Formats: sequence, structure tokens, C-alpha cells
Amino acid sequence: MKAITQTTYGTPDVLSLADVALPAVGDRGILVAVRASAVTQGDRRLRAGDFPGISWLPGRLAIGLTGPRRPIPGTVFAGRVVAVGRAVTRFAVGDDVFGTAMRGAHAEHVVVPADGAVGRMPAGMDYAEAATLPYGALTALDFLRDRAAVAPGQRVLIVGASGGVGHHAVQLAHHLGAEVTAVCSARNHDFVRGLGADHVIDYRTTDFTRSGERYDVIFDTLGATSFLRCRRVLAPKGRYLSLIATAGLLLMALGTALVRRRRAIAGVALGTPQQLDDVRELAEAGAFRPVIDARVPLARVADAHARVESGEAQGVVIVDVATRPARASRVAA
Ligand SMILES: NC(=O)c1ccc[n+]([C@@H]2O[C@H](COP(=O)([O-])OP(=O)(O)OC[C@H]3O[C@@H](n4cnc5c(N)ncnc54)[C@H](OP(=O)(O)O)[C@@H]3O)[C@@H](O)[C@H]2O)c1
Repeated sequence: MKAITQTTYGTPDVLSLADVALPAVGDRGILVAVRASAVTQGDRRLRAGDFPGISWLPGRLAIGLTGPRRPIPGTVFAGRVVAVGRAVTRFAVGDDVFGTAMRGAHAEHVVVPADGAVGRMPAGMDYAEAATLPYGALTALDFLRDRAAVAPGQRVLIVGASGGVGHHAVQLAHHLGAEVTAVCSARNHDFVRGLGADHVIDYRTTDFTRSGERYDVIFDTLGATSFLRCRRVLAPKGRYLSLIATAGLLLMALGTALVRRRRAIAGVALGTPQQLDDVRELAEAGAFRPVIDARVPLARVADAHARVESGEAQGVVIVDVATRPARASRVAA
């Protein structure tokens, strides 16, 4: 099959198209013919081997210290199941699925565990639209609904509201009935208003931590703020969420978990089958609107990385994969 491969960490030109063997499905796996993938900030980090702060060593140990252990990048997919392992009951050949993989989705086929972050695609969406969801929508769901329990009427502020996670967080917070304040640059204010933001703040001209407002939840999607700075605008039982887990923040999270007042929360959204099913239902209910910034063919994944790195993408950069049929004889169990 055709796949993008990478042997070293670095700039987008470390990615190249190659012919590789079809992956074996295994007893508990499903083989998915990928029709669309996405390039996210997570993919950029994995390509560059760039992990923030204290996550550098565990991150590199997990994926390869000096170069990626698994050469095929790509963490998001939407496509059709073409083979299932002997022990799999959750999916059948012919199902259209979407989800996240540890690696391997920038290829014509990917194998993922059937009990991993994979679910049936939302009805009424095509592959490219479905591939906009597993990264940002899943992360927003994990943090805003599952960790912070955002409730109707609460005031939620999202830092990085125009980004890959942020533009889903705005939609979800709005759907959950919150009053949403979006923090991003002015050029993106109309974009986030269109997704459900009630208020907008340009971080280049205004420091929201000096606004005198109070928020029940502050969701920093890019590590631009700190719990200590945000504490003064958090409601007495407010929660500060961050996708970037620094050593200091993890200590704050441990400490504040013991008290009933303002809490700091950090972690990683790995995704569960239930969360994928919930993302599907939310998308079918109109809570998540797919926003596609650009589409590139598989051979031009490097261009997609450059677009993500530019910081100018509005929505998700999609990789279209034109899958040729897998030869069944090579789908080894
Ligand atoms: N922990 C987890 O489970 C998890 C999950 C997913 C992602 N992540 C991490 O989360 C981070 C963000 O990911 P992403 O995909 O959302 O990134 P992204 O698409 O690059 O979005 C970041 C956005 O923030 C805006 N921005 C830049 N500086 C800002 C500032 N000082 N204040 C407010 N907004 C600012 C930018 O838009 P403007 O042009 O409007 O400024 C940009 O669109 C990445 O580091 C990623 O690795 C972690």
C-alpha cells in the first residue's frame, strides 16, 4: 500500500511517500481503508519529536528517542472497515468508522484496536467531514464535559478558541448551554462568533485576567496562561483546564484536587469508545459543525504540515486518501 513514512524527526520535508506492506490486523484489531485523515498540532509534535516541558522525555521514550519507532505518521482517520480480527464483535466489514490511532493513519490502510478510540461515523457526514472530529471534538468533550462538567448558564472562557481544539470547544460549550467567551486574534473573531461564542477577546490587545469578570471554567488550549494568573478571574468553585501539563501545573492540580475551591486540571485526552460514540451523537445533533480549512492528497502531507505550522489554518487540514482495494490474502490475522 501507499503510505507516508518518516525515519527522523524534523521539518515537514522528513515526510515522503513510499510503498509499504499492508499491516496485519491481529485478533483484536480492525483494518480500515483510510479515506480521509487530518494533520493536527499533535501530528506536528510527533513529526518534530517536539514535546513541551516535562513531557519531552516520556514523549520521546514513548515514540522513539532519536527517531520514530513506527515510521508511518498520522493519528486521525475516517474510512471503511475491510477486515476484522477473530475476536472482534464491535465492528463488521463494510462499517464506516472514524477515530484516532497512535500512528499509521497517513496511509491507504491502518490497523487499530477495535476497543480503542474508534466509532461509527456520524450519519450524513462524508469521510473528510468525519475526519475533522476525532482530534478536537474528542479533546473538547474530554475536558469540558467529562473533567469540568460544564453546565447550562455557566461562564466558560476558551483560550486559543480559533485553533484545532478551540473551535470545537467553543461549539461544545455553546451546545452545553454555557455563556462562551472566546480568546483569539481579531482576524478570527467572526469565525468563533459563527461557532457560538457570545463574547470575543483579542489577546493581543486585552488581558482577560485583568477584566474583572468571573468565569466558572477557563480552558487554555495552548498553554498561553497560568493557573495563578487566571485564579483571580475564576469563580470560587471555578476550574482551570490546560492541555499543556507543566510540572508546576501538575503540582497545582494535585494540590487543588484536595480542596473544594478553585481547581487546576491538566492531562491528556486519549479517547474511549464511549467518547467517540458521544462525539458521533453530538455531531448528528448538530453540536459539532465540520470546518475544513484545506484538503490535500496523501502525497502532499508535507504541505498540510506546513499549513498547520503557519498558524493560519481556520478549521481542520484534511488529507484525502484514495484507497485501492486491499488484497485479502495479505490481511494476515
Ligand atoms: N493534552 C491533550 O490531550 C491534547 C489534546 C490535543 C491537543 N493538545 C495540544 O494542545 C495544543 C493546542 O492544539 P491546537 O490543535 O488547538 O493548536 P492550534 O490549532 O495551533 O491552535 C492554537 C490557536 O491559538 C491561537 N493563539 C495563539 N496564541 C494565543 C494566545 N496567546 N492566546 C490565545 N490564543 C492564541 C491561535 O489563533 P489566532 O491566530 O486566533 O491567535 C491558534 O489558532 C497543542 O500544543 C497540542 O499539542 C493536547
